[in-house]
Amino acid sequence: MLDVMSLYKLNKFHWHLADDQGWRVEIKKYPLLTERGAWRTYNNQDSICLRRAVSEDNPDMLLPAAKMRTVDGRQVYGGYYTQEQVRDIVDYAKTRGIEIVPEIDMPGHSLTAINNYPGLSCFEQTGWGELFTTPLCPGKDKALAFYKDVYSEIFDLFPSKFIHVGGDEVDMKNWKKCPDCQKRMSDLNLKNESQLQAWMLGEMEKFLNAHGREMIGWDEIIEGGLSPTSTVMWWRTWAPKSLDQTTAHGNRVILTPNSKFYLDYSDREATYEGIYQYQHPEEGLTAAQSKLIQGVQGNVWTEWIPTREQMHKMAFPRALAVAELGWSKPSRMNIDDFNRRLADHFARLQALNIVYNEPHLTGFYDVNASTKPVSLNVECLDKSAVVRYTTDGTMPQTSSPEFKPGMVFSQTTPLRLRTFSHDGHKGDVVDTKVVVRDYAPAFRPDSMAGGLKAVWHEFPGIRCSEIDKAPVNETYIVDEVGIPKGVRGNIGLIITGNLSVPSDGVYLFELTSDDGSWLKIDGEMVVDNDKEHSMVTRRGQYPLAAGCHRLEVRYFDHNGGGLRLSVYDANGNKLDAAKLFSH
Ligand code: ACM
Ligand code: ZN
Repeated sequence: MLDVMSLYKLNKFHWHLADDQGWRVEIKKYPLLTERGAWRTYNNQDSICLRRAVSEDNPDMLLPAAKMRTVDGRQVYGGYYTQEQVRDIVDYAKTRGIEIVPEIDMPGHSLTAINNYPGLSCFEQTGWGELFTTPLCPGKDKALAFYKDVYSEIFDLFPSKFIHVGGDEVDMKNWKKCPDCQKRMSDLNLKNESQLQAWMLGEMEKFLNAHGREMIGWDEIIEGGLSPTSTVMWWRTWAPKSLDQTTAHGNRVILTPNSKFYLDYSDREATYEGIYQYQHPEEGLTAAQSKLIQGVQGNVWTEWIPTREQMHKMAFPRALAVAELGWSKPSRMNIDDFNRRLADHFARLQALNIVYNEPHLTGFYDVNASTKPVSLNVECLDKSAVVRYTTDGTMPQTSSPEFKPGMVFSQTTPLRLRTFSHDGHKGDVVDTKVVVRDYAPAFRPDSMAGGLKAVWHEFPGIRCSEIDKAPVNETYIVDEVGIPKGVRGNIGLIITGNLSVPSDGVYLFELTSDDGSWLKIDGEMVVDNDKEHSMVTRRGQYPLAAGCHRLEVRYFDHNGGGLRLSVYDANGNKLDAAKLFSH
């Protein structure tokens, strides 16, 4: 990883060394952190990896045998770096121009410490809450002293000016009841638990500063009052104000907004194009504020990444987009040029034994329709890759036929495509469909009023097919497909009406939603964008005769997402919603 980072001038390696799932660096004063804390019996994330290894036919999701041990008759999984190994790695990185910034996360994400040493949490509690784990107790001097001991050894291992202390995702509910926490708050005249967290991290910052180091924390550290000197790592895309708040305060910031820069997220959601084309959200920032942006970072969290190969696949080629974004003037950024050059970089990655995720196949839609026999123009940016397919829904294998450009489909055919890398490594699977049929006949409606009917159901579920069973909250007439004003919380929407098209033709429907949605026309599924996901666009074609057709869009979300439908004619012209929809 350091070799390839160096090649691409990724010059900071932020190394997250302690979390709920494992403690990964030897600390001599507290040996149980690694003797016990680096090893676990399988947790639910491990089970998900094992399930995905099978369902996605991906051996890189199997937990590696080399990371297993038997302790007291139980199989445990894990590993850690000795201090000697860490020193080696720090030196290795340094000779390659890379500085390693260590992170020991606190006061949340600290279960491995809490589980192995008493006196660190409120009420000696430990475990997972609804979202986050039991945090450290800022009311206990012992918790602070423990982490100062840990950091003292970290200072010896890592010469970097910056040390990352975490500060993210803290469940503060114990702090509200804990007598030690409450006493600390009253002694220091702190008004709320966020201020208590800020105080605790402030103590750590003083300790870091006394040892000549500077503090970085995740952007939650703003909340209880930001110290004048700490650097903020902005990760919460949903808290964009963090950027303005940090820089208005004169503090430095590093950009790693999760929706784009979390390389452990699916590369269908956090795409390399999205990283490359990321616009620094500098609107509203003064020039002085913009100067405080230190750079960009891609994060690869590994709770669902059990092998080096899987880590490489998640990191590459997206890390190349991070590097180029980080080092280029905005005026020099050009995605077409990047795509051309990326095609050449695959050979470099191959030479370095880096397994990468193949770029997504292009040249087709989720549903491709025609009234005549038709071929699909399936393409891969990586010319060393081979595309294979099945038509029976089974997983394409090395033995499956190769998809050849120009292959003609004369009837409706479901297709499963899979990219195989030069070394036979199996890539992701993509399902598509070729629909060959006549124009769907139009009907003449009895009456036509403008707009579509949108019914909001109180729907806590995660499948469009189940929305109609949930009770109705409200009914609206909407001008276009979207979430009507006032609809929030448990959203299940069923939007129905007429779709009037001006002429016979193959129309393209582009349905974007967060979470799931579908589009049916005349009862046929044209775009299936169902299931829980962040903002995803799916595209399907359908041949329609001029006139009126029945439209049904379904959509669900539980925390305020988005929904949009665009319709294009055969020439790619976008049709006007006002002329399209009626009920
Ligand atoms: C984070 O992803 N919790 C910083
Ligand atoms: Zn406490």
